[in-house]
Amino acid sequence: MSHWENPLVMPWDSRLERVAGPAGLVLFGLTGDLSKRKILPAIYDLAHRGLLPPSFTLIGVARPKKGIDDFTKMAEEAIRAGANTGIDERVLAQLMSGFRQVIGDYTSEETFAKLSEELARAETERGTGGNYAFYLAIPPKLFPHVLKELKAAGLDRHEDSGWRRVMIEKPFGHDLASSKELNDVVLDVFEPSEIFRIDHYLGKETVQNILALRFANELYEPLWNNAHIDHVEITMAEDIGVAGRGGYYDGVGAARDVIQNHLLQLLALTAMEEPTAFTPQALRMEKEKVLSATHFIGSVEESSVFAQYDAGWQGGDYVTSFRGEEGIADDSRTDTFAAFRLGINNRRWAGVPFYLRAGKRLGRRVTEIALTFRTPPFQFFSNEAMANVNANTLVIRIQPEEGVTFKFGSKVPGTQTMLRDVTMDFGYGHAFTEYTPEAYERLILDVLMGEEPLFPQQTELELSWALVDQATNYWEHTDREIPQYAPGSWGPQEAHDMLALDGRVWRRP
Ligand SMILES: NC(=O)c1ccc[n+]([C@@H]2O[C@H](COP(=O)([O-])OP(=O)(O)OC[C@H]3O[C@@H](n4cnc5c(N)ncnc54)[C@H](OP(=O)(O)O)[C@@H]3O)[C@@H](O)[C@H]2O)c1
Repeated sequence: MSHWENPLVMPWDSRLERVAGPAGLVLFGLTGDLSKRKILPAIYDLAHRGLLPPSFTLIGVARPKKGIDDFTKMAEEAIRAGANTGIDERVLAQLMSGFRQVIGDYTSEETFAKLSEELARAETERGTGGNYAFYLAIPPKLFPHVLKELKAAGLDRHEDSGWRRVMIEKPFGHDLASSKELNDVVLDVFEPSEIFRIDHYLGKETVQNILALRFANELYEPLWNNAHIDHVEITMAEDIGVAGRGGYYDGVGAARDVIQNHLLQLLALTAMEEPTAFTPQALRMEKEKVLSATHFIGSVEESSVFAQYDAGWQGGDYVTSFRGEEGIADDSRTDTFAAFRLGINNRRWAGVPFYLRAGKRLGRRVTEIALTFRTPPFQFFSNEAMANVNANTLVIRIQPEEGVTFKFGSKVPGTQTMLRDVTMDFGYGHAFTEYTPEAYERLILDVLMGEEPLFPQQTELELSWALVDQATNYWEHTDREIPQYAPGSWGPQEAHDMLALDGRVWRRP
């Protein structure tokens, strides 16, 4: 039963007026992991929520596969397996009627000639208006080939009014130099306003809520500075290992894979000044300012830790070490854990460390931003009364159990004056009945509508790469051994030692 028949099945979407106009999406990498798990289900969920136009056309580009001459079934299976909003057969049939496929290698001109015919056909048969977004969900080494061929086939432009946009998946390069090179290649084909770099963290409701929390309320912003905040921790922990993706991960590592993009974007949103408007230009300006003021405290040697998970017991299973994983060299120096100790050179944040850590095979899967406040300048209660009270902490929980928690001291009921930490909790699941869209739904819709605020710009990426490059260069060339940490722990001793320099300890999320 669909939400049209029973509104309780799916709560009304208050963004319903944000419906994409006539358009098509050309998906390179149709058969890939990301397309199957995220992109195809997100497209269906958008259609199911009535946010795609009836003319919407999905053109999947796939290289020939033995025994498959029709990828329709594969696309449909991926949708059935991954859709969040339940399968409505009529919506699915309608969406699949607009599915087209182009089979061919991405390095071959012929593939793009076929694609060109398919786009022209969809324009007349389906009424796409010549509006197409090209989604490059493919290995980065193929980006230049695909972009070059799109240009050579004249697909980057439409002679009439139709728009062309390109969506690029991370990683945007391997370091600062390659990021600039990639950007030159993309800019040779598309205008800056036509380029949408996907950092799916920015599509998450909880990440967008950082701006709402800070700038739509009066309570937080006056305290959001070094007069009241002691330090900030940003954690992105996974409890799994490289799980069959060792080939991709080796040579990349945690700092490049998630700190360069997701964690530094979270830092920018947490620390930036209030933008003058919710426009791409104003947001970009503030993020760039704060990222350009961000630096390792002291030296990169004392303020960064790279490490790898060792073999050991984790939750009842004996797991292999990173170096023991299939496809990983015995002497690999790739970081499965990285921690940074950063400072921000501006009036608001001088003296407040921002501790970032990301890793695999840690204690649990969690992403959060924790702001720990200073202790009161004068303590009115006795030390005994305060024995179970720590500094106030505001935790923005990005995933799972999305929400915000505020921890503060409160009197324990009874005849004695004793205090204890308690929490005030906001959880998305409890507070809202509205459906929470997946990040990819929001981002694909925004691309089809040409709305840029949630997409990072090249300068932000370059500033982030410049920072991450300092750590990767140091750890790739130092004689120091890469520290090892026990699976299921919160990282190596060196990461704890780094915080001990400031007399602090990491939170246990
Ligand atoms: N997977 C994730 O969770 C994730 C998350 C964030 C970002 N990303 C990024 O998204 C992109 C895709 O990742 P993925 O995990 O989906 O990769 P993947 O599973 O390896 O899929 C890559 C896709 O590219 C196709 N392909 C590779 N070489 C080709 C060639 N020469 N000609 C035509 N097609 C070719 C593959 O086709 P075949 O099936 O025929 O090999 C497949 O459809 C990457 O840039 C990745 O970094 C992925």
